[in-house]
Amino acid sequence: MNTVNDYLKKGSTDIIPILSLVLERSVASIISSSDYRVSKKEAVKLNEMIAKRERGVPFAYLSQQKGFYHLDFKVSEATLIPRPETELLVDIAIDLFDENDDRDILDLGTGSGAIAISIADKRANWKLTATDLSVEALNVAKQNTKSDISFLHGSWFDTVENKKFDLVVCNPPYVADDDPHLKDLEFEPILALTSGRDGLDDIKSIIINSPNHIKEDGYLLLEHGYNQQEEITKLLSKDFHNITKFKDYNNLDRAILAQLKSEVGL
Ligand SMILES: C[S@@+](CC[C@H](N)C(=O)[O-])C[C@H]1O[C@@H](n2cnc3c(N)ncnc32)[C@H](O)[C@@H]1O
Repeated sequence: MNTVNDYLKKGSTDIIPILSLVLERSVASIISSSDYRVSKKEAVKLNEMIAKRERGVPFAYLSQQKGFYHLDFKVSEATLIPRPETELLVDIAIDLFDENDDRDILDLGTGSGAIAISIADKRANWKLTATDLSVEALNVAKQNTKSDISFLHGSWFDTVENKKFDLVVCNPPYVADDDPHLKDLEFEPILALTSGRDGLDDIKSIIINSPNHIKEDGYLLLEHGYNQQEEITKLLSKDFHNITKFKDYNNLDRAILAQLKSEVGL
């Protein structure tokens, strides 16, 4: 019968969080009680998880959970694992309007619901709508929320007909179809990742259609790839002004906020 220490000595990837998950003990208790004898049942589960992790399955898909902003989110193979870079969109959004105002916010491609649910939790007066093309992802997002969010199924703005919002926020798929980094993301849903030859197909469609769904002087907020900001600025400049660009924690261009020109929103 193996002890926790035997597993620690093997040094498999993420072995401490895996032991913590399977044995349902804190990390501190795993380390301080390393002579704990693992039962047969626990060993089967541990070996299964270690093998999956060694094959490259992200730890978040093993634990089916990921922390984002100030909350924990359930995730599944149907949802992107929410990234720390995306927390930037929540920061920008919650600072955009007075928290006591009534505001209508749309989160396109909500995935696990990370953006919409974090905003709703911080801004109780704002009405959140969240959409996704993936029914499975929407089901996960619905399980994650305690707020009153309208979840809608469909492609981008098709879901909201003629409705207009104060802010449309979106972390769209923006990886080019042949990007070599995709091999590191093989366990995440391709629908959440790729968007044509240059990764901009969905962003272009969202920018072109967004003026019909943004209120006068309202905003569009997009996450994008590190090398896409210049092209997106050009695309936005027809209908938007007051374009503000943001970098992520790694100092890479990552998000862009633009206000609808008054004459377009009339
Ligand atoms: C990059 S992920 C972002 C997920 C989540 N908002 C986040 O930041 O973690 C993009 C999301 O867009 C969804 N998506 C892809 N194409 C879509 C479309 N045509 N209409 C609506 N959602 C779409 C995917 O299913 C995925 O959940």
